[in-house]
Amino acid sequence: MAQVIDGKAISAQIKEELKERVAAMKAEGTEITLAVIQVGEDPASSVYVGNKKKACAYVGIRSLAYELPEETTEKELLDLIAELNGRKDVNGILVQLPLPGQIDEDKVIGAICPDKDVDGFHPQSVGRLCIGQPGFVSCTPAGIIQLLKRSGIEIAGKECVVAGRSNIVGKPMALLLLRENGTVTVAHSKTKDLKEVTKRADILVVAVGKPKMITREYVKEGAVVIDVGIHRNENNKLCGDVDYEDVAPVCSAITPVPGGVGPMTIAMLMNNCVEST
Ligand code: GUN
Repeated sequence: MAQVIDGKAISAQIKEELKERVAAMKAEGTEITLAVIQVGEDPASSVYVGNKKKACAYVGIRSLAYELPEETTEKELLDLIAELNGRKDVNGILVQLPLPGQIDEDKVIGAICPDKDVDGFHPQSVGRLCIGQPGFVSCTPAGIIQLLKRSGIEIAGKECVVAGRSNIVGKPMALLLLRENGTVTVAHSKTKDLKEVTKRADILVVAVGKPKMITREYVKEGAVVIDVGIHRNENNKLCGDVDYEDVAPVCSAITPVPGGVGPMTIAMLMNNCVEST
């Protein structure tokens, strides 16, 4: 039976380590502050933002909450970012996505000072990752690398397949696996014969956004399967992009949903905040 990769336990361990580091920094007079901006009241975003604030409080990071109305203009948001960029007492700036239609997300991401880009979404952060320079890395893929390493799973030399090519997960995931010396293939919605590609993977990362799409026909016997998806099924139960019950018996390790990749995103955001000082 597959090893179940416990993201909840690993994220708790990382937060514990960060809490100690933050306390030591405080003792030396360094305080960390994260500005969290939410525009509108999307319920899912409100849950994510609430969890980020809670994690900050736990680790010992000060959080400044900016809850702006749905009708906020692009200029108003850019002005706030400019002000926060200029504040010496603000280390990190996070703008929760998605943003309302009147605001250009790319413009907003590009306006955040790269030194405060704790989400790792700024083109400079992505470029640095691409050419192997230090910089902030997108939290979900960074968390997946931690899940693999802390579960004793070797990446170097392995066939890694990433299903999905989003800017937030798929692309940075591929770059990180490459940085760890994996042999990386990126598959996506236009890939011909997806099963044939995913079946080559020793490590399969799935971020396709389709509930339970990946069944055992997509998975090589003994592969490690990482599920980035999170959905509610017809019974209001959470499920991933992977059909867990079907796939778990044939793989060597797998992340559950919930309790796999999800908790790692916030742990890595806290890590980026600590690194932002
Ligand atoms: N929306 C969904 N995921 C994320 C994330 O990781 N960061 C931000 N800022 N917004 C998101």
